[in-house]
Amino acid sequence: MKFRYSILLLSILLAVSAAAEPTPSAAYNRVLFPDRRCQRAMSENSTRLGAPPVAAECEVWSEACSDAVLKVARQSETAEWLRGIRRKIHANPELAFEEIETSRLVREELDLMEVSYRYPLAKTGIRAWIGTGGPPFVAIRADMDALPIQEAVEWEHRSKVAGKMHACGHDAHVAMLLGAAKILKTREHLLKGTVVLIFQPAEEAGNGAKRMMQDGALEDVEAIFAAHVSHEHPTGIIGSRPGPLLAGCGFFRAVIRGKKGFAADPHRSVDPVLAASASVISLQGIVSRESNPLDSQVVSVTSFNGGNNLDMIPDTVVLGGTFRAFSNTSFYQLLERIEQVIVEQASVYRCWAEVDFFEKEYTIYPPTVNDERMYEHVKKVSVDLLGQKNFRVVPPMMGAEDFSFYSEVVPSAFFYIGIRNETLGSTHTGHSPYFMIDEDVLPIGAATHATIAERYLIQHG
Ligand SMILES: *[C@@H]1O[C@H](CO)[C@@H](O)[C@H](O)[C@H]1NC(C)=O
Ligand SMILES: *[C@@H]1O[C@H](CO)[C@@H](O)[C@H](O)[C@H]1NC(C)=O
Ligand SMILES: *[C@@H]1O[C@H](CO)[C@@H](O)[C@H](O)[C@H]1NC(C)=O
Ligand SMILES: [Zn+2]
Ligand SMILES: [Zn+2]
Repeated sequence: MKFRYSILLLSILLAVSAAAEPTPSAAYNRVLFPDRRCQRAMSENSTRLGAPPVAAECEVWSEACSDAVLKVARQSETAEWLRGIRRKIHANPELAFEEIETSRLVREELDLMEVSYRYPLAKTGIRAWIGTGGPPFVAIRADMDALPIQEAVEWEHRSKVAGKMHACGHDAHVAMLLGAAKILKTREHLLKGTVVLIFQPAEEAGNGAKRMMQDGALEDVEAIFAAHVSHEHPTGIIGSRPGPLLAGCGFFRAVIRGKKGFAADPHRSVDPVLAASASVISLQGIVSRESNPLDSQVVSVTSFNGGNNLDMIPDTVVLGGTFRAFSNTSFYQLLERIEQVIVEQASVYRCWAEVDFFEKEYTIYPPTVNDERMYEHVKKVSVDLLGQKNFRVVPPMMGAEDFSFYSEVVPSAFFYIGIRNETLGSTHTGHSPYFMIDEDVLPIGAATHATIAERYLIQHG
């Protein structure tokens, strides 16, 4: 197929220019990677001659355009560079809002590529841009933080920091977004607007996305996309779905107070153990009795603590857990009912309860809901770039992502990119100390990001 396009491009080139015939491969390269001046002159000439637009201009996306993007991504130097970046970040993991060196590395690479950016947003975050500098603006995002996990994988580039690990693949996300920057920089003259690259801190904790938005990360941005590596799909497979993709996630902790007393004289005390136990039982009724069974939700009590003397009824019991739902409405209904059930149930047993949802500590994540049109865009781009067999519609998952803060504000799509390779052993789930990725994903992810952005601008420019 490549051959057919190069012949076509060659003949257009010859039609508009009487220059000495280049060899087919040189012509192919020139057409696919023309410098800015040459490109402008060519389009002026073709307009003057009434010729159809040169395919490589990619105003109408063609296989040649996909090939051009993949070619840059798969060049051995690009692939090598991507692996190098990912390994450097992997060896030096930094937790939420501490991504100092990671952020520095990103800025150094952007400087080398002569990509402009604003820094800092949300302490360590970066907003970079490539293109005309004018509308439309489309954003692609990577998260930079690691996890407080001790790496258990024995390999050359394992974490050098005790107790910290890139166990969720955010090192790969950063590398792929830098890869997209590199590709888009070679195609900057083709961009019909501006691509905004968002490198954000603190996805795992602290609502980095929310802070990035407060600092203007989404200024002028009309759509946003992001990827997450997934051990559930073979390397390079793209997966997504329209509508709810990831759950909203919240945590709660309730303090139930009674009155301390000797266990042998229960009538002289007010027992918070009984009140807390009744609360746990009643909490089970929220999802099973009050929620639409077709609207998946979870309430799990994961912690129950009180007392340390087997002969005493304690003053207080502290219980806590997590809740999940796929719509904002269901999520906030759960939150409200968890509080009511615990407070009311405690009062049945003459106790007093207070429920904390850690709103101030930023542990509430809304559901991640893909806009139908943005999902269709990701699907079309993936299929054209990687082939029909490399795209999958995936079921929703109960996990959460702070990308949801962006998707509350602008149309968005979140997608997975597979890293599963049985030979390499990259089959462990995220947040496992054995988590690892197949680095062959990096060029594919970079190309997918770049094409999603470039084609978005073509369609909305
Ligand atoms: C455009 O046309 C002019 C004159 O018609 C010619 O001199 C020039 O080489 C052409 N440029 C390209 C890139 O074909
Ligand atoms: C979600 O619901 C809460 C509470 O009702 C509301 O404050 C918030 O604005 C809602 N968010 C969206 C995106 O609808
Ligand atoms: C898995 O990795 C090995 C070694 O790099 C490679 O040869 C193989 O093609 C990969 N398999 C898949 C399904 O990507
Ligand atoms: Zn994670
Ligand atoms: Zn993650």
